[in-house]
Amino acid sequence: MNYVQISSLIFSQVGKSVMIDPQYYSLLFPLFDDIERFDTMTDSIRELTILQPDDWHIHLRDDLALSTTVPHAASSFNRVICMPNLVPPVKNAQDAIAYRARIMEQLAASDLSLERKSAFDPRMTLYLTDNTTAQDIELAAQSGIVQAVKLYPAGATTNSADGVTNINACVDVFEALEKYNLPLLIHGEVTQDHIDIFDREKRFLDEVLAQIIVKFPTLKIVVEHITTSDAADFVLSQGNHVAATITPQHLMFNRNHLLVGGIKPHFYCLPILKRESHQKVLLDVATSGNPKFFLGTDSAPHATDKKEAACGCAGCYSAATALPLYATAFDSIGKIDKLEGFASRFGAQFYGLPLNESTITLVNTPMQVPTDYPYFDGASLTPLMAGETLPWSIKA
Ligand code: DOR
Ligand code: ZN
Repeated sequence: MNYVQISSLIFSQVGKSVMIDPQYYSLLFPLFDDIERFDTMTDSIRELTILQPDDWHIHLRDDLALSTTVPHAASSFNRVICMPNLVPPVKNAQDAIAYRARIMEQLAASDLSLERKSAFDPRMTLYLTDNTTAQDIELAAQSGIVQAVKLYPAGATTNSADGVTNINACVDVFEALEKYNLPLLIHGEVTQDHIDIFDREKRFLDEVLAQIIVKFPTLKIVVEHITTSDAADFVLSQGNHVAATITPQHLMFNRNHLLVGGIKPHFYCLPILKRESHQKVLLDVATSGNPKFFLGTDSAPHATDKKEAACGCAGCYSAATALPLYATAFDSIGKIDKLEGFASRFGAQFYGLPLNESTITLVNTPMQVPTDYPYFDGASLTPLMAGETLPWSIKA
């Protein structure tokens, strides 16, 4: 066993129960019927050192937003895969190079440590449109900074109006992706008006993705932010070239959290939270040690007033607190030991990248999620679980 393997298994045995306001138990541990079990577990686990994680799906946005989002992401993650749904979108290698330079400028201007600054490596994606060509893919592959290509069915989510309207017309692009071994990242929802929002993921898998996989059998695919047991089963039934990311909100919450007792706009994201049985399966597969499932926060900032509105934007903001959130979710079913694979190993393996060498330590000491962060133009940004207490935090 090398240092890193050993360090990942080190849990100090200094027992001390964590005090959490009882009103938050059901929110923090939706699967936890037996609070005593949690108390027992925290008696024996105090610290967890894991390889530095990567976020394989994040929205950093652009321009002024970057001064908030970049330091938040870079404080925990080394590699992040930056979603391309800007206005206008990142459509080709040239756009991606310019976008990455804007991110790096904000990184340099931040007050992060030199160590974090040099470790942060934003990896770019192209936004697939009806006009993307095989040559765009070739140039992206040659750029050295484009890690993948993102497919948004037109109209599926935020800034997806320029997305693909006819997937059957993407044959040349998919062939080029296969040729250059660039993964296709998929927002897997159909968009027809008459299809119920809670069924849109499953319908996409059955009616669209299954056919893409048959036609392009070596295309690497990530089904992003899966939300259903159907998606978990689908990914499990495919070869190793098909994987999935899972967000903290889909592990910790279900549609009751969004809708019961009043609508909670900060739990609203797309694909929308599903019923509890789906949440449980997602937590099971995320903590199973199966390398097909890895971390992708889908942290998606929208100013507080754009979420707390008559027509609220979709997206949960978790960039700064993602690791304590995931640790809380994994710990809720006694699987904190599976966090390193999910957060720090499986994504890199899927993308064929080396594992990070530095480590980060999580500690079983409660932290309060900030109620909000300053955002640009005088706005604020409300994170997932704003103002609430998480049992895990990052060791300073
Ligand atoms: O909730 C979401 N927000 N889902 C997405 O797919 C996009 C994202 C955003 O960009 O705000
Ligand atoms: Zn996203």
